[in-house]
Formats: sequence, structure tokens, C-alpha cells
Amino acid sequence: MLKGKKIVLGVTGSIAAYKAALLVRLLVKEGAEVQVVMTPAAKEFITPLTLSTLSGRPVLSEFFNSDSGSWHSHVELGLWADAMIVAPATASTLGKMAAGVADNLLVTTYMSMKAPVFVAPAMDLDMYAHPSTVKNIATLKSYGNHIIEAAAGELASHLSGKGRMEEPENIIKVLKGFFLTGSELSGKRILITAGPTYEKIDPVRFIGNYSSGKMGFAIAAECARRGADVTLVAGPVSLPTPHPAIRRIDVESAREMCDAAVEAFPSCDAAVLSAAVADYRPAVQASSKIKRTSEGMTIDLEANPDIAATLGKTKREGQCLVGFALETNNAEENARLKLDKKNLDFIVLNSLEDKGAGFSCDTNKVTVIDREGKSEYPLKSKAEVAKDVVAHLSRLLVMLVMLLLPSAASAEGEELNATVNLNASKVQGSNTEVFTMLQDALSEFINSRKWTSNTYEENERIMCSFNFVVNSYANDGSFDCSLMVQATRPVFGSSYNSLLFKYEDASIKFKYQPYDRLEFVEDNLDNNLTAVIAFYVYTIIGMDLDSMGELGGSEFLNKALTIVNNAQNLGDAGWRAGSNNNNRYSIIDDYMNGALEPVRKLMYKYHRLGLDTMFKDADGGRKAITESLSLLKKAYEDRPMAYFTKLFTEYKVDEIVNVYSKCTADEKRDVVKILSEINPSLSSEWDKITKNNN
Ligand code: CTP
Repeated sequence: MLKGKKIVLGVTGSIAAYKAALLVRLLVKEGAEVQVVMTPAAKEFITPLTLSTLSGRPVLSEFFNSDSGSWHSHVELGLWADAMIVAPATASTLGKMAAGVADNLLVTTYMSMKAPVFVAPAMDLDMYAHPSTVKNIATLKSYGNHIIEAAAGELASHLSGKGRMEEPENIIKVLKGFFLTGSELSGKRILITAGPTYEKIDPVRFIGNYSSGKMGFAIAAECARRGADVTLVAGPVSLPTPHPAIRRIDVESAREMCDAAVEAFPSCDAAVLSAAVADYRPAVQASSKIKRTSEGMTIDLEANPDIAATLGKTKREGQCLVGFALETNNAEENARLKLDKKNLDFIVLNSLEDKGAGFSCDTNKVTVIDREGKSEYPLKSKAEVAKDVVAHLSRLLVMLVMLLLPSAASAEGEELNATVNLNASKVQGSNTEVFTMLQDALSEFINSRKWTSNTYEENERIMCSFNFVVNSYANDGSFDCSLMVQATRPVFGSSYNSLLFKYEDASIKFKYQPYDRLEFVEDNLDNNLTAVIAFYVYTIIGMDLDSMGELGGSEFLNKALTIVNNAQNLGDAGWRAGSNNNNRYSIIDDYMNGALEPVRKLMYKYHRLGLDTMFKDADGGRKAITESLSLLKKAYEDRPMAYFTKLFTEYKVDEIVNVYSKCTADEKRDVVKILSEINPSLSSEWDKITKNNN
């Protein structure tokens, strides 16, 4: 994630400067290019030689190189970097950065920086708690810098408290987290309206509302953080621009806001309308202050333009429009009405019925509503709510782009009708967005890819499910998951679905980053995840065709076999021949190996001649099933170590017990004998056949 990233590391004069060495080492290890800039005071704590050796670049500290007279350009550094980290940042450097005291190369570099800046303060606890430090940190935050708060612990002064620079490993984590979501909106233009509008009554009075603009500003900051080109049309608020990359247009009235939004929208990919626009304005605005009289007074109001609805009318394909709804009653119903009336893609509802939600507080509790459904979020800080809303928007923008792509447009449901589920509860606390995106990507990959050249009608698609459980996940995108695959086929003339295949794959290791496209190229297997999926898809399609006509699925089962053979070098134990007689390799090897041909024939006999017939002719159908189980026994005798014979009895056990619920004692005895030989570990289940006297 940090590979190839260009990082300027600013080091200042603190005892914690020694940690800069570890930070450089970790950054370099991650594949980043690091340019160290030190303040003169920092050299008292760590030598430039140490840092230049570790970073592989000369350390910069002075404006001029006194030997060569060459000029060190802070402006160029500002353009070169993908991020700047100031770690450790002393109280003095924080103050200089906040106040713009550019008397050393580090602060000038900071002030010229076009990339996001991360600041990791380090100082004694009293200094950290001092109001000037608190104010400087708040100022730096308001400029859009990312503050990596100091941690608590023992300090160099031997006092204990908050002030220790965050550990380099954790700084790296913050940076990775940033880059994980740092560029997904790059190239996207987003318009945001925020704050209230003021509608003039006379030169000193207005109609307004309590909106603080905090929610809209947090959304603007989040969009900018994710790389978007943001235009923020702000009503009268007392908030600083939250990110250096935001273009801000200040307006006062609804009409001014509408003009600015209408002008900006055509070149934007999305608009988020969070402003609390006054619905009415005085019909006449007095040019001089209205004098008090003893009479009452009436102000005639006329309607303001509805900005959201205006943009909704001109919205083109691929553009996305997001609204907010603040409701006091019938919240959801009213929000849905607004969604439709204003042609929005989704609406963020905050209800004044919820404590801690609404105008001036720093928290909010929202429900995101779209045409597919709704997602309710708990009470969170407005910055956190902004993350949720922008993540929703970002996913939608990706989907809209995919819909517009000509190749994707023709992608539609094909052979499989798969439900895909990714359960990440074991690794909770990690970035949850990556899991949602992976689940969506998998569902899209399995369901929309054309796996065969056959035509499947919607009702012929094979019902199946892929249930992943994430056992471990690391921020570099490494996953280890287990997967339960299951596929069924409908039994003719009934509403019953019979299990065609069911298997639990204990461990699949792969890498996935948000927005990775899942691709599978048959003769060039380079992605373990898509290879595994393709393997199961072909196995399922092949078995389904085997169940329709004797040995009918050879083409696809051979593809699964080829994948297994070609995947041997993907480093996943599930593919390895001979390592385990219960893995992907052994399943398909058993099934396709000539010695087990009876098993393949069984698929047809059991399902087509057996189950499909049973509903018309119970005895005839059951007889075919008994014959097919004899085939299974024969295969077992030929190859007792083969796993598939057992697997089949395991996932079919309930069905088989049912099939033999109504038959003669002799039939029961014969079939129990066969089954007990193939899979004695299920003997208590097979006993149910004998005991069942229906
Ligand atoms: N909105 C807008 N222009 C207006 C009024 C509202 O752009 N003149 C936008 C808001 O920014 C918000 C959404 O429309 O995204 C819903 O705003 P809200 O005030 O809840 O809706 P109204 O249509 O004004 O409905 P009402 O006040 O009657 O509830």
C-alpha cells in the first residue's frame, strides 16, 4: 500500500527523534521513498548520517547547501510528495506550523505541501496539555492536517502521562489506512452545499436557521481526503475550510447558493446537498432598516428555489445526487418522498427525535435510505458519519461508472444464481469497508461472469451459495478465509431442492484491496481467490450437467481439473496433490479419475432417474437411487481412500434417510448395509432408516 509512495518525513528536536530512524526503516521496508527534512535542533538528537543511510537520500536541513551553494527547493518537495509526516513534532514546531513562522526548511516545506500532512506530536505532559499547544493542534486540524495524537506512557522527563510520540508502527498503520481510502475518489468532482442560508429582511435582519454547517464541512473534508476535487458552496458559517484541496464559494442567500450550485453541477460527478436552505424569502427586501411602529407587522414571503430538485431535473446518467432530510415526524416516510420528488440517489435522514442528532451538536445519528433499502448507523461524531456517507457515495459512483462501461453493461445474470456472504465478525475492529467491497466484488464476479458458452434462462440458473468467514485480515490486504460452498438443483415436479454439492474449504489465502477487479484468466492463474472461485464454479456447473445427462458435465469438470493442476504453484495447500486426501485437489481428482467413473454416473442415476422420478413413481425412483448407491459402493471398494464417496454421503445424509422412510424392511436393510460400509461414521444416521417405520 505504501509501495512507491513518496514521503517527506519532517524530524524536529525532541528526545523522540530517535524513533524517526525506525519510522524511516519501516517506510523503506514498505517500499516507500523517503526524503528526510530535519530542523537544526533535531540534529542534536539524531545524526543526519543515520537518517540518510536508512533512507538512501541525503537529509535536507538548510535552505542552501553551503558547499555547493545549491538551493533546496521546498516548493519542489511540496509537489513531489504523496504525504508529509512530521514526527516527532515539538511544541515549538507545532506553533510555527500553526502560525506560519517559516524560519526553517521544515516549516517552509510544510507550507508548500500539496499532499496531506500527518503530525505526530511529542513533548512533556504539561506542554502537551498547555492551552497554546491545544490551540495550535486545533488550528492545524482545522487546516486539514491529520493529527496522530500523542500516546500516554512514561515520558523522557520520567513523568508519566500523555505526550509520548505514537509508536512508528502505529504511524505506519495510520498512513496505510489513509492510502487505503486515500485515492478512491481521485479524479472525481464533488459539489457540496453546507450551512444555513440567510434571507434578508432589511440591511440588519434576516430569516435564517440554526444549521452550523458542521456536517457538510465534514463531508467535504472526507471527500477531499479520499482524493476528490471538492467545490464547497457554504452558507454563512463560522467554520474554516477543512482541507487545503477544497474550493470554497461563500454565499448568503438560497438564490446565491442555487446559482453557484447550478453552475458547478454540470462538470461534477456528484453533489451532496447538506445545506439547510431557507424555503422562503421576504418578497420585498427593504433597502433601509425597517423602523419600529406601534402596529404589528407582516412580512410577505415567496418561495426560494429548491436546489436539490433543480439539480435532480438536470442530472445526467452517471451523476449522483445525495440529499439530507431533517425530520421531526414520520421521518422515514417523508425522507422517501423527498428521495423521489427530488430525483436523489440516496438521502441521509437525521431525525430530531434522536438525541444527539441535528444542527449544532458535534454528533449525528443517521439512516441512509435509497431505493433498495436503508442502513441505520449508531450515534457517531460528524466526522465518522461523514465517512459512512462518503463510503456509500463512493460505492455508488463506482457502480454507476461500471454500468456505463459498454462491456459491463452487457453483463447480466449467467449460469449461477449465487448468494455471497462474507462474515468478518472474527476480525472486527479492522476497516469494515474492505469487507463490504470484497463481498460485492465476489457476488458480481460469480454471478455476472459468463462461465460457459451455453445459454441459461433465468429459471435455469444454478442456485448456490458461497459463505466466506474471514479468519484473519491484515491491512496490506492479506486475507485468510474459510469458505462453505453449496449448490442445489430443483427436483422436477416438486418444490424440493436437492443438494448437488456441499463442501467446506478450511483455508483460502489471498490478497484483496478495495477496488481491485476480480479477474480470472484460465491459462494464467495468478490470483488464488479467483482461481478457487473458478474451481468451484466449474465443479458446480459440471456436476449439475452430470445430474442432467450421464457424464454430461465433462467439459467443465475438466476445466476444474485443469485449474487444480495449474494452481499447484499458487502456494495454497488446498491445491496440493497428495498433501491431504480432503482438499480441492482430491475432490476433483476422485471425481474425474477413471477408477471413480461410477461416482460420476451416480449423479445422473441418483438425481435424474431417482429423485426426479420419485414424485411420479416413488418405488421406481427409489430403486434407481438404491442402484446409484451401489455404484457408490463399487467406487468405494475400488478406491477406499477416495474422499468424494464419503463427502457425498455426508451432504446427502438427511435426504437419503428421507428417501427410505417408506419402503420394505428388506430394502432398508440392503441400503443400510451399503451406506454403513461406505461411511461407518454416520452409522447412527443410517440406523434411523431402519428405525423409521412410516
Ligand atoms: N434542499 C435544497 N433546496 C431547498 C430546500 C431543500 O437543496 N430550497 C435540499 C436540502 O439541502 C436537503 C433536501 O433538499 O438535501 C431536503 O431538505 P428539507 O429541508 O428536508 O426538504 P424540503 O424540501 O425543504 O421539505 P420540508 O422543509 O417541507 O420538510
